[in-house]
Amino acid sequence: MSNYPKTSALMKRGAEFLGTETAILCGAMSWVSERNLVSAMSNAGGFGVIACGAMTPELLDAEIAATRALTDKPFGVNLITMHPQIFDLIEVCAKHQVGHVVLAGGLPPKGSLDAIKQSGAKVIVFAPTLALAKKQFRSGADALVIEGMEAGGHIGPIATSVLAQEFLPELAEEHLVLVAGGIGRGDMIAAYLEMGAAGVQLGTRFACATESIAHPDFKKAFFRAKARDAEASVQLDPRLPVIPVRALKNKGTVEFTAKQREVALLLDQGSVDMGEAQLRIEHFWAGALRRAVIDGDVENGSLMAGQSVGMVTSEEPVAEIIATLMAESEAALGGR
Ligand SMILES: Cc1cc2nc3c(=O)[nH]c(=O)nc-3n(C[C@H](O)[C@H](O)[C@H](O)COP(=O)(O)O)c2cc1C
Repeated sequence: MSNYPKTSALMKRGAEFLGTETAILCGAMSWVSERNLVSAMSNAGGFGVIACGAMTPELLDAEIAATRALTDKPFGVNLITMHPQIFDLIEVCAKHQVGHVVLAGGLPPKGSLDAIKQSGAKVIVFAPTLALAKKQFRSGADALVIEGMEAGGHIGPIATSVLAQEFLPELAEEHLVLVAGGIGRGDMIAAYLEMGAAGVQLGTRFACATESIAHPDFKKAFFRAKARDAEASVQLDPRLPVIPVRALKNKGTVEFTAKQREVALLLDQGSVDMGEAQLRIEHFWAGALRRAVIDGDVENGSLMAGQSVGMVTSEEPVAEIIATLMAESEAALGGR
């Protein structure tokens, strides 16, 4: 991208690794990151990633083929490590010669990194601590995403700014590190690149792009929301574990808190056993992201969104979002 020489220079390693013009990834978002958004992202010089989520191998097979039909540029596939058919999904990626597989949702199961690498694909991983990041690089990971708690969706407890300070000075010279969580403007991209990041990953900023198939009501909720509306779910009782998810507050999030209280009370009374109680909590959000994204149920569905949602104010084509981010980064670097 010759219009953005300083940013492009800092993104060079990341862009070469991804095979793109810019090292801006659109992080996989279940139900949102399908063929349309992914191909639009890659066609616009960024890197799109299909969210496999709970898809079967057959569905993933079809989604990759459909995405290929819409772009001849590189894109990745995000696999959730606890998917019961993870090795079949890896085979599907290999069959299509997918260039980059992102392993999310926990440490990769034994043999999965090797299986992906045997297909010739690069592996991108997440790691909650520096020690685990180093371990994964030793095991053959090609790049790492550090994702802070400002992000939308499932989150860890640490802010992106702190992760960046902990991980980048230790890893960035030798390894490719991508920074995610809370990025809404190019100024922030410039800052992380200057700290040594090879690229950045955004989700919330792209979720409502013109090419995103998210329901118009889902998009409207994003345009209206401010940073403080994107709340992390809270665990009320240590016996009932809740993996924190950042989403826009709505009727569903309020009811989830009430549900935890109700189930904890049943546990106290001995009316349900621990297994049943935990299942009731786990099942509360089943299908909820789909209900919000596809059906447009913004009251009861899960409106997963990061704190950068306040910077998402209108529907724009992916190419315009990327151009804006690159221009903002370039202006920030130019002013240094
Ligand atoms: C609606 C939504 C769904 C998401 N689904 C997934 C997912 O299925 N797998 C995953 O690894 N990350 C998922 N994420 C996280 C994104 O890939 C990305 O890392 C994150 O959005 C970056 O932070 P930001 O939202 O502050 O830009 C999701 C995020 C959102 C907003």
